[in-house]
Amino acid sequence: MAQDRGHFSRIGFILAAAGSAVGLGNIWRFPTTVGSNGGGLFVLLYIVSVILIALPVLIAEITLGRATGKNPVGAFMAIQPGTPWKFVGYLGVITAFMILSYYSVIAGRAIGYFVKALLGHFSGMTAESSTAMYSQFTVNFPLQLGLLILFILLTVYVVSRGVSGGIERYSKILMPVLLGILCLLLIRSLTLKGAMRGIEFYLKPDFSAFNARVVVAAMGQAFFSLSLGMGTMITYGSYISKKDNIPASAGWITLFDTGIAIFAGFIIFPAIFALGMDPNQGSGIMFNTLPVLFAKMPGGSIFGAFFFLLLSIAALTSTISILEVAVAYYIDEKKKQRTRAAAVIGFVALLFGIPSALSDGAVPFLTDLPVVKMGWLGLWDYIWGNMSLAIGAFFIALFVGYAWKTSNALAEIRSENQGFRMAGAWTFAIKYVVPVFILAIFIGLLL
Ligand code: TRP
Repeated sequence: MAQDRGHFSRIGFILAAAGSAVGLGNIWRFPTTVGSNGGGLFVLLYIVSVILIALPVLIAEITLGRATGKNPVGAFMAIQPGTPWKFVGYLGVITAFMILSYYSVIAGRAIGYFVKALLGHFSGMTAESSTAMYSQFTVNFPLQLGLLILFILLTVYVVSRGVSGGIERYSKILMPVLLGILCLLLIRSLTLKGAMRGIEFYLKPDFSAFNARVVVAAMGQAFFSLSLGMGTMITYGSYISKKDNIPASAGWITLFDTGIAIFAGFIIFPAIFALGMDPNQGSGIMFNTLPVLFAKMPGGSIFGAFFFLLLSIAALTSTISILEVAVAYYIDEKKKQRTRAAAVIGFVALLFGIPSALSDGAVPFLTDLPVVKMGWLGLWDYIWGNMSLAIGAFFIALFVGYAWKTSNALAEIRSENQGFRMAGAWTFAIKYVVPVFILAIFIGLLL
């Protein structure tokens, strides 16, 4: 293992991986996609994708990382040198740049809302005034740019200090506090008049809405939320010890991450319906609803400030893991120094993030792009957060299933006498279920 890459302790790995997984994907992206994909059916497909597709890929990525002790590109090259497999790793590195770019925009907005809550801007919010507040916020060109720069600087700062020093400490204390505030929000939302219609939207599948696009969105969300398909978990797996039980860790991470996303939906949708808002409103959904909930809660400004602060930190533990993919690649393969690598990648991600930061009203062209009829941020999220991750996961499954072979992966999982009761099911999933499912959906999209 390369020298200045650092190491995780046992519990440290679960915390760091959960810190990577839990973030805006759960609390911002999940409600956004549920809302724009018709509710209950999407939720059902999401849960199925998590269990059948994402969890097996998570185990495969961690195992690949631990076996090789490498970044995604290096991992493929270590096992199959001189083959085109390394391009799967390159795709992961590029995807890391691109996801970091727009993810940091939303994370910067979370910091902005932290300050707004502190200043008391949430008090007296209604559905209308909250929506207006968000629009005024996102059209503000210098502010959006400033928040994006601030967030990328934070990410670069933490990553430049190395993994174990940076990440482990954050997750331990802050996650439980975030969960506490989510519980308060849940109670507030469910006790609003008309909340039940939101529950119905959220849980009752409308099977007539079934099509390939909904399945792609559900599967993409499963990969995104668990940080899969671009080598984050390969990279994090490279920092763990042979004593860790990979399937057990993967199971806990999945349960925790999925639980928080489902929980967030139980907050957003009852509120959306009770407040008479539109569930299909795109990426503003969280920013439009939550201030109203905080306004209707005793101590709402304080809780609101805490919430958006913790959400920003949860986003930071995710962007750290995204940046770390590219940084580990430049350290291992290009022999770059950690701080320099982090700074340069952060700068490039910043440049790509600018159009996203300006795509919610600040620049009309970027807000409603011709042909695709969506904003830049939405387009970038679709290309990199859905498509690229699914393509990456497809090839990772093929690689582990056929090139490296599941027998070698199982030997790695079982090193130091670790048990793996579901080995047969996992092998079947990686070799057949995951690749066939992803391929079928891509074909379905073309039809
Ligand atoms: N999973 C994180 C979230 O839900 C985001 C994230 C971190 C990610 N690393 C990733 C998404 C790698 C895709 C790939 O917020």
